[in-house]
Amino acid sequence: MSLDKLTRALGDMFNPKPRYITVTPVTDKSAEPVLPPPQALPRHVAIIMDGNGRWATGRGLPRSAGHAAGTEALREIIRASDDWGIGALSLYAFSTENWSRSKEEVGALMGLLLKYFTSEIDELDEKNVRITILGDVDGMPEPQRDALVRAMQRTAKNTGLRLNIALNYGGRAELTRAARLLAQAVRDGEIEPEDIDEDAFAARLYTAGLPDVDLLIRTSGEMRTSNFLPWQLTYAEMVFDDCLWPDFDRTRYMKCLSVYAGRDRRFGGVKGQMPSTDTPDKEDAT
Ligand code: IPE
Ligand code: IPE
Ligand code: MG
Repeated sequence: MSLDKLTRALGDMFNPKPRYITVTPVTDKSAEPVLPPPQALPRHVAIIMDGNGRWATGRGLPRSAGHAAGTEALREIIRASDDWGIGALSLYAFSTENWSRSKEEVGALMGLLLKYFTSEIDELDEKNVRITILGDVDGMPEPQRDALVRAMQRTAKNTGLRLNIALNYGGRAELTRAARLLAQAVRDGEIEPEDIDEDAFAARLYTAGLPDVDLLIRTSGEMRTSNFLPWQLTYAEMVFDDCLWPDFDRTRYMKCLSVYAGRDRRFGGVKGQMPSTDTPDKEDAT
């Protein structure tokens, strides 16, 4: 090997070229999407609504203007989900980590939240939407907490779209809470430690009773989950859209749904093979 080649090989070893996971970015250049047939639609869509701040600063506006613009996109996506018969929609609106933002920004977000629930609740209720808050509602400021509890109570019996809004939500906090609830149930003699299985765990999550997430969409080009629904996303298909959340609309949403419909979901199996009925033998494994 020449010295030049050797130097390059060593360089590659210490500075490997970035390897990107195979996601399908949705770009403006893509063809006009069509809505996939109902059987090809996800039952549960989760969205990380990201990019409000960049949308605003790019226009020389305060970040709060981006959050205000973001609520318009929110309205449109909830309506579209309802129109298209999506069973459940989980939206990441405020994480436990978002409290670390400035007082002004957190205040603006809390103000918008109150405004949103006041102005939208009648229409959502009329549309038979059932609202659930994912996250620690008790840790929210009082006016917001009251509005959230009222919205959940008012729509509790609705049978249409399951609209989950993640507020003061953290995935690790959700898992820790489930573990604590299980420990309490054992302590109180309600269950035995042997009863703790995946169903028992899932039943203690904020999303109890809902199917796992089929499709995760994140806007703004970031490719991370930022502590959102770690349990529920285990087998979700992920679609990352470069556009900033206030620019996300029905057309882009439809495009994400058609990307999802084109994915090959295998859940660890192999297409065309009959599942084995054998369970691994302990002796074989040794
Ligand atoms: C998402 O937009 C909204 C919230 C996190 C509340 P951001 O505010 O994170 O926007 P960027 O990522 O800074 O552009
Ligand atoms: C995730 O976005 C939270 C919400 C969209 C509400 P962030 O903007 O807070 O996430 P990071 O900081 O980029 O990971
Ligand atoms: Mg962000």
